[in-house]
Amino acid sequence: MSELIEVLTNDGSYSLRSLFFQENFHSLRGALEETKSKFTASSNLQRFKGKSLNVLDICFGLGYNSASLLNELIKQKSYLNLYALEIDKKPLEYSLRNESFLKLWDPKVKRIFNSLNCKDYFEDQFFKCSILWGDARKKIDFIPSSIKFDLIYLDGFSPQKCPQVWTIEFLSKITEKLNSEGYFITYSSSAAVRKTLRNLGLEIFTIKPTFKNRTFWSQGTVAISKFDKYELKANFNFEKLSLMEEEHLLTKASIPYRDQDLNSSKEDIIKRRLDEQLFSNLLSTNQWRERWGMTKLSFKS
Ligand SMILES: C[S@@+](CC[C@H](N)C(=O)[O-])C[C@H]1O[C@@H](n2cnc3c(N)ncnc32)[C@H](O)[C@@H]1O
Repeated sequence: MSELIEVLTNDGSYSLRSLFFQENFHSLRGALEETKSKFTASSNLQRFKGKSLNVLDICFGLGYNSASLLNELIKQKSYLNLYALEIDKKPLEYSLRNESFLKLWDPKVKRIFNSLNCKDYFEDQFFKCSILWGDARKKIDFIPSSIKFDLIYLDGFSPQKCPQVWTIEFLSKITEKLNSEGYFITYSSSAAVRKTLRNLGLEIFTIKPTFKNRTFWSQGTVAISKFDKYELKANFNFEKLSLMEEEHLLTKASIPYRDQDLNSSKEDIIKRRLDEQLFSNLLSTNQWRERWGMTKLSFKS
């Protein structure tokens, strides 16, 4: 599972590529940039200045999302209870060997990561952090059900490469753990993921791109169960879905990934969805792409 290759991304930060999943851990634009613009900026962490919060980081990997979170919370003296889920120990071991990764953060982040690596746990006056190693679909049940999270990060490989962490059943388990004003944040703009989150009763928002073009129209999704419309401030980096994104949810791409007993293989989950798409009367995703000028054909016309 863990054949990993080092990748230097365009903002100078390091990442990895998984040969098993055939995918990079981060966008080539920048691992650090991705964490900051998608996960940290969407978290609106200033809400928790001097206060306490619970965070769940699913698919911890090298730990960019947790490191960036910890770094901000150290500065603003917040109290954190963090749970992380990850199947493979190698990315964290790699982070702890990579000086340029460690230099990005306050030195306390290294102490926390070291402790997570050796003892799966860290605790001091401000932070309590635990990492649960294994398949997130199973390990999530080890988190006490009394804990509700203010932030949940989901940073798995893409739904086509790792559908196991994007199914209705898994997303339903995760979102049950979100507190009523908590934010679920992911880099994915997949129609299947968004439609599932909406069907689970959450309000969904698109993370605004740093620049917009035909193919780069969103940086991900924020889902919130109880959102006060008047709270959506101009400085938030997420907003309501555009008409184009809403129409995406009416296409076959919105057909969900399913994994009834939370133990299906990738192949079975993909096949089940393809069968469902084949018999669906929904609009084809290509028609939607053409309507919004995203196909090669429509670029010419
Ligand atoms: C895109 S990378 C995560 C990037 C990460 N947030 C970072 O900062 O490096 C996806 C991660 O999901 C992990 N993963 C894949 N399948 C998993 C599963 N079923 N349960 C838990 N972790 C899983 C991989 O080992 C990998 O580290």
